[in-house]
Amino acid sequence: MRSKMKRFGVLTGGGDCPGLNAVLVGVVRKAISLKHRIVGIRRGWAGMLEKDVMPLDRDAVSGILHRGGTILRTSRTNPCKSQEDIRKVKKSYKELRLDGLICVGGDDTLGAAYTLFEKGLKTIGVPKTIDNDLSGTDRTFGFDTAVNIATEAIDRLHTTAESHDRVLVVELMGRHAGWIALHAGLAGGADVILIPEVKITMKEVCDIIKKRHKRGRDFSIIAVAEGAKIGGKFVTKGVRKDEFGNVYLGGMGRIVAEEIEKRTGFETRTVVLGHLQRGGTPTAYDRFLGLWFGARAVELADQGEFGKMVGLRGTKFVAVDLRRVRKLRTVAPKEYDAARIFFG
Ligand code: F6P
Repeated sequence: MRSKMKRFGVLTGGGDCPGLNAVLVGVVRKAISLKHRIVGIRRGWAGMLEKDVMPLDRDAVSGILHRGGTILRTSRTNPCKSQEDIRKVKKSYKELRLDGLICVGGDDTLGAAYTLFEKGLKTIGVPKTIDNDLSGTDRTFGFDTAVNIATEAIDRLHTTAESHDRVLVVELMGRHAGWIALHAGLAGGADVILIPEVKITMKEVCDIIKKRHKRGRDFSIIAVAEGAKIGGKFVTKGVRKDEFGNVYLGGMGRIVAEEIEKRTGFETRTVVLGHLQRGGTPTAYDRFLGLWFGARAVELADQGEFGKMVGLRGTKFVAVDLRRVRKLRTVAPKEYDAARIFFG
């Protein structure tokens, strides 16, 4: 027997990410097939605090599959920063007559989804982040697009670096995990890759560059994750933090470049790719992942499987406990060490 019509909310929280609109298409199309309704919550958790919503029907998601960003908008609002805010979220949930809330986000958004689940809200998670650092899934959507953008940038840097006999340092996103730097660095043929998880000294970096130059390769490309550390510390832009306590990173590429120039005497320049990695059209793979993540999230909601996140295990979509997302999935030093054969 068909279950009765239900109303599920959906929100997109945290940094935007290519493929978010594909998730919304997946959510709405699956809901239509099951005869449920979807309410779009605008600006992430801010929309739940302020009851800022929009209708999300077939027309609203028509023609958005290939578009970057999110038609729902997003924010880094933390709904659990006070008891008062938690109370407001619960009140909105009730007043909107929701039967469940699909939360599309990274560790902060999904961490909040789990806390609220424990406090009685029926939440479901969809793993979003270009950083690819969520536990419980082999892939997050957005990562493939970011890696492709970063790889193309590295390809372009090669020709200019070679023409000028320069070292080019490219700073890539990745706060706690070096997945983008590692994958784009390898795909783009970077000569050294620096990531947050593994310590590599400036002497090691410079020795690799010097060896290359001795072989007659007078240019080098260095890929640096923004979260790579110096003396165990992040390089930050001031002391400002977002509502989840994250510092704003940036500047590691410039520091590495200055050090390389000082130690080797080779002319060195820095490029910071920044938000270019998050903007624009998602790859086919991220659209595919987004569609199915969205559709599976509605399936879980329909079956009353709350407190879960949709994940990808190999080629299968699975349901995992939202609690697991609290632990970040980082690059294993063993994996990084194996990649060293491609350096230089
Ligand atoms: O969480 C994804 C991410 O792109 C990180 O890689 C980066 O550190 C951060 O977001 C940047 O955040 P914002 O857009 O708030 O500057």
